[in-house]
Amino acid sequence: MSSKKSSPLFPLRKGIHSRQAHVSLPPGTFEEEHGRQGFYGKVSHLYRQHPPTNWTEIDGPLKPRSYNLNHFIKAATDSKDLSAALKSSALGSQEDTFKPICFLKNHDVALHLVSPKSMPFYYRNADGDDLYFIHQGSGLLETDFGQLIYAKGDYITIPRGTTYRFMPDLGDQMYLLIEGFSEINIPDRGMLGPNALFDPAMIDTPEISTYQDTPGLHQVHIKRENQITKVTYPFQPLDAVGWKGDLTVMRINVKDIRPVTSHRYHLPPSVHTTFLGTHFVVCTFLPRPFEEDENAMRVPFFHRNIDFDEVIFYSEGEFFSRDGIGAGMVTWHPTGIHHGPHPKAIPLSRTKDRTNEVAVMVDTLHYLHPTPAAVAVETVNYWASWK
Ligand SMILES: [Fe+2]
Repeated sequence: MSSKKSSPLFPLRKGIHSRQAHVSLPPGTFEEEHGRQGFYGKVSHLYRQHPPTNWTEIDGPLKPRSYNLNHFIKAATDSKDLSAALKSSALGSQEDTFKPICFLKNHDVALHLVSPKSMPFYYRNADGDDLYFIHQGSGLLETDFGQLIYAKGDYITIPRGTTYRFMPDLGDQMYLLIEGFSEINIPDRGMLGPNALFDPAMIDTPEISTYQDTPGLHQVHIKRENQITKVTYPFQPLDAVGWKGDLTVMRINVKDIRPVTSHRYHLPPSVHTTFLGTHFVVCTFLPRPFEEDENAMRVPFFHRNIDFDEVIFYSEGEFFSRDGIGAGMVTWHPTGIHHGPHPKAIPLSRTKDRTNEVAVMVDTLHYLHPTPAAVAVETVNYWASWK
């Protein structure tokens, strides 16, 4: 993404409009943002007489979609169709203890749900960087760089080519895996300065532990082009006694991310950017106060995301702007068709002074494609939920 503007034409104005976007909307109008490059590029605001999501029918493949990923874990054994879909969508490792289930992908990024058990083997992704969000569960992650204890709300970035395995605690485990086929980095904070959102000193890295070689053979399962190669060693392969440098496994918990807000202006989702890859961005929506100014909008504006597909994974709290969405569910709003707050959300937002939501958004420059597993857990009437 770039912040360059290529046109000096702004502002052109016609008819009834608000001078400040997202503030003091003309009575009876619904504001739609029509913008390029996510929320960075050229932009217009249209003041409509109806919410653009008040359709009565959509005929064709382009629809807002919603998937209930809880079914990947909780209903997997009940349905033969779902079991077959899960099998065909498990990219790479299909071992029972580590079987990522892909639900949306393009050539820049693949989104999976992972529910690991203690792994008897090690795993290495040669295809891309692995960014985990721990939605549910906790445990120990063993890596080339040492060990890391993780818990709910952690983001863990694992650079491409790193050998690792999960040793989860007892209890349900549900991790969102954002597999990026480019380096995943922390964005520049620009005018906010390097310590905003979270101080780099809040990042944890693995600790070298006492090497424990266990007798027998040890396997590393390496994924390259979604095929697994198993390499066997006669020793425990995580044998580094130390490391140095700036490429390593990193952990930050959402509790340590301090969201940026304005009491007078509804900031675009891009201010919540947590990680950047090439052609995709990861944002984190966290508990925060609503705008205080009574003329400022408190819910996301309507838009049709001209340049990005938008995916949101809902983790915790009340997702006030989306009716019928619960924890462990995903929405996908593809480029070209509108989305915005649900009808109840606008009046509801006026009765509350803060949101307690925790959600992870992945915006992708190129079109995403759902896998058979996603189709199997789709909430089919989501497109009609704005009625
Ligand atoms: Fe959006």
